[in-house]
Amino acid sequence: MQRRDVLKAFVGGVAGASFINFAGSSASARTASLSGETTNQIEGSAMQKYDNDFFYKDGVFQQDKAFQAYYEMFAEMNYSLADSLRSNKDFWVSDFGLGDFARVGMGGIFFFNDKEFRYFGHDIYLLPGQMIPEHRHEPAEDMPAKHEAWQVRNGSVYTFSEGGEKTPQALALLPKSQLDADAIHCFNFKFLRVGDQDRLSRLCAPHFMIAGSDGAVVTEYACYHSMDGLKFSNPKAHP
Ligand SMILES: [Fe+2]
Repeated sequence: MQRRDVLKAFVGGVAGASFINFAGSSASARTASLSGETTNQIEGSAMQKYDNDFFYKDGVFQQDKAFQAYYEMFAEMNYSLADSLRSNKDFWVSDFGLGDFARVGMGGIFFFNDKEFRYFGHDIYLLPGQMIPEHRHEPAEDMPAKHEAWQVRNGSVYTFSEGGEKTPQALALLPKSQLDADAIHCFNFKFLRVGDQDRLSRLCAPHFMIAGSDGAVVTEYACYHSMDGLKFSNPKAHP
């Protein structure tokens, strides 16, 4: 983990008092590494390894480039993606139609999404500093709203929940494209490292996450995921 994440871990810890941490690390241990850090070292845009020129050709999102970037991230974090998963037809990538994949997008595999028995299992892949667009899950398909929880497997993430203040620390992490679109309403954030977990604050609450400087592999545990119930804050975003 890079030092700028250590600073953000501290800032996030202050903002998120209900941070659940099974790794046993302490805020005091983290703050010991903070001397000399400044806020201009924690801008999310400083985390990107690729810019959008890598992911777009003539304005069209190049999925093969996105897969390439995730595979390179997996190699760098020593995350072993089994061949059966690498070739999994359900491994998907998306820029959500927003044209800013370097900062806003994700990859993932839906391992389970069982409507009959109402469960869902998903791995989320995020490049360094990459954000899942803010969204919420509403009741749909005669089913209750989806609830979800997340556990970091590799790398780190910032989980954002509703409320909070537009602090310099929060604003530094957020993609300009989403701020300019007024598509963010969550400014509370927590920093999660490998093994750490968090959960949705309430049903139908807006939420999103942003990867730390090494990227992230996150497992999501949830109720049935309805695409009809998925609502983005940015009106231009779509699955
Ligand atoms: Fe969600």
